[in-house]
Amino acid sequence: MDKVNLRKIAIIGCGFVGSASAFALMQSKMFSEIVLIDADKDKAEGEAMDISHGIPFVGNMKIYAGSYDDIVDASIIVITAGAGQKPGETRLDLVHKNVGIFKSIIPEIAKRKCRGILLVVANPVDILTYTALKLSGFEENRVIGSGTVLDTARLKCQLGEHLSVDSQSVHAYIIGEHGDSEIAVWSSANVSGIPLDDFCEMRGHYNHDKSQENIAEKVKNSAYEIIAKKRATYYGVAMAVKRICEAIIRDEKSILPISSLMHGEFGIDDVVLSMPSIVGANGIETKVPISLSEDEEINLKKSADTLRSILDDCEI
Ligand code: 2OP
Repeated sequence: MDKVNLRKIAIIGCGFVGSASAFALMQSKMFSEIVLIDADKDKAEGEAMDISHGIPFVGNMKIYAGSYDDIVDASIIVITAGAGQKPGETRLDLVHKNVGIFKSIIPEIAKRKCRGILLVVANPVDILTYTALKLSGFEENRVIGSGTVLDTARLKCQLGEHLSVDSQSVHAYIIGEHGDSEIAVWSSANVSGIPLDDFCEMRGHYNHDKSQENIAEKVKNSAYEIIAKKRATYYGVAMAVKRICEAIIRDEKSILPISSLMHGEFGIDDVVLSMPSIVGANGIETKVPISLSEDEEINLKKSADTLRSILDDCEI
């Protein structure tokens, strides 16, 4: 396969999430070329100009509004294009509109035989990652959904605050749908190897079930709360995009809860959802065999059923 330009990334969709992601990626200095694509060319050009004015502060790179012809050799193609949730709307409410948008975007990428990894961020991300996989015909390893990387960060943030400990020392996952049916995996949660309940008791918290229920609800409802206050979320997800790109570009082989196609794990098939997976230069290397409690497994299957029923409703 022709080479990709590892220092080049493309972002399709220059709305709140796309422009915030471009800003985060520019500051990461991972790329020397960032191509912005949007149906509204002025928007893409305006964002490119605005972010470019920060280049003297971080080091030389090119950021420009381009077209699909400019991204054939991009190492990563981030897809944020699509409608965002309005206050009170669920991510799944966006499915028909955004699947329609993907049906116009993905063929443009596929027919040019773009060589990079597709990183789907638009919502509902699990459904749209499945759509990108099927419509592009790309190998599975290079079609990734941002999935519950952001939700997992929110969980770590909440637990860090609750336990007065560095959130980077908290190891816990949100898996399943990036949405209302997501699951917090409490059974294997730990703080630097110390079982979560033991660390909670060290900090004087003993009502584990209630605390876990409250924290999981707060994480699940974070986006609704933020959208109600400021119309959209974008900084957190932009940082999640940067984190996934780092793992790819640096071939870190990091374990991240990204969205990918299930192949019988936990009896789940032919649906995209988030499970901890090893991410490196070739995209998804493999899922990792996370152990789940009986309840967590039952809820994961419910999450899969929710997504499956939505998929059956879309002609993809
Ligand atoms: C978020 O969780 C809306 O999916 C977006 O912030």
